[in-house]
Amino acid sequence: MGIINLAKRLDEVSDSATLAISAKSKEMKRKGRSIIDLSVGEPDFDTPWSIKEAAFKAIKDGFTKYTPTAGIPELIQAICDKFKNDNQLNYGPSQIVVSVGAKQALYNAILAICNPGDEVIIPQPFWVSYPEQVKLAGATPILVSTYPEAGFRIGKNELKKKITSKTKLFILNSPCNPTGAVYSREDLSEIAEVICSHQLYLIFDEIYEKLVYEREHYSIASLGKEIEEKTITVNGLSKTYSMTGWRIGYAAGPEKIIQGMKKIQSHSTSCSNSIAQMAALSALKGPQDEVEKRREIFARRRNFIVDRLKKIEGVSCFFPQGAFYVFPDFSSFFGKRYNNWIIKNSLDLATYLLEEAGVAVVPGIAFGADHYVRLSYAASIEEIEKGLSRVEEALSLLK
Ligand SMILES: Cc1ncc(COP(=O)(O)O)c(C=O)c1O
Repeated sequence: MGIINLAKRLDEVSDSATLAISAKSKEMKRKGRSIIDLSVGEPDFDTPWSIKEAAFKAIKDGFTKYTPTAGIPELIQAICDKFKNDNQLNYGPSQIVVSVGAKQALYNAILAICNPGDEVIIPQPFWVSYPEQVKLAGATPILVSTYPEAGFRIGKNELKKKITSKTKLFILNSPCNPTGAVYSREDLSEIAEVICSHQLYLIFDEIYEKLVYEREHYSIASLGKEIEEKTITVNGLSKTYSMTGWRIGYAAGPEKIIQGMKKIQSHSTSCSNSIAQMAALSALKGPQDEVEKRREIFARRRNFIVDRLKKIEGVSCFFPQGAFYVFPDFSSFFGKRYNNWIIKNSLDLATYLLEEAGVAVVPGIAFGADHYVRLSYAASIEEIEKGLSRVEEALSLLK
């Protein structure tokens, strides 16, 4: 019997660089070590009670069967209303698809748009799944570096330079995970101008839209009919309503693309969970004061973590305007040593901080930017203070 080879696409897709750290951190916790986890990608708050009650009711009412592929009509209407009220976007129900998290919406959009060989432009640092999803679709990620000096934002000229006859798609995320960068209306107009003068689509991932601190969030598709017709707007309930485990995301865009995404979804997950859809309906239709309260808490934590990081010698930190992450530059520690440790890159540094300080962070390399480390402030101020004091002490040992 010969060896049966698995699909080549597995060779294309990388294992997450975060997996090793997170597995190690879990193992250390299990063995009783005190670990402060600043690596998480989800709010530390619970899902609001009224949303949970809508799910209990759905179960009691027996709302436990398949729903239409794109989602239940009431939820689709609530999403249309949300786009109209919050984002000045007039999408009709046939332009919306509800999916299993924003992650599935993104993947379906990429699958619906890209052919093998197509190029997809992605600003770097990027959210970990964009390049991998592009590769799974057989397309090629084209990465464009962004830097803290330019607010970790890509400008129109850098974008233009990367466009070739093969470019099919540009993926933009604002507020950005991991940098916390938020694109202004002017930035977005310039990008819209480039997209509209070339043959390509745009995915605009605005999943952190409700976690913006000083700037205002703008949906790029709201800047004019022409850009609306080329944009797939992706959002979800995970971050806004602390509903990461419920797996509800959605996309809106040109009917032709949304219908294509539905076709793909109908053969993969069929539809998202019926009970979670009812919970999502209640989240979107219910009072929004909890969202604002949580945003204010995140804003205070953001100020605290940035100020605290600035006090650590050798660390420089971009001031994030959105999401719940900071992305400081730790590269001044590369080349330094302590006992058997030699810090060569962000993965070494994250491993050192986990093992020496008991603090879990995500190495920047997971986001394509090795000088940095991502810390999440989805943790209390006390935890952040304790975590960063440990980090400071561990870093002071490196010589
Ligand atoms: C930028 C970004 N987009 C999309 C997602 C996917 O979110 P979900 O699938 O939970 O809706 C995440 C989650 O971390 C994210 O950070």
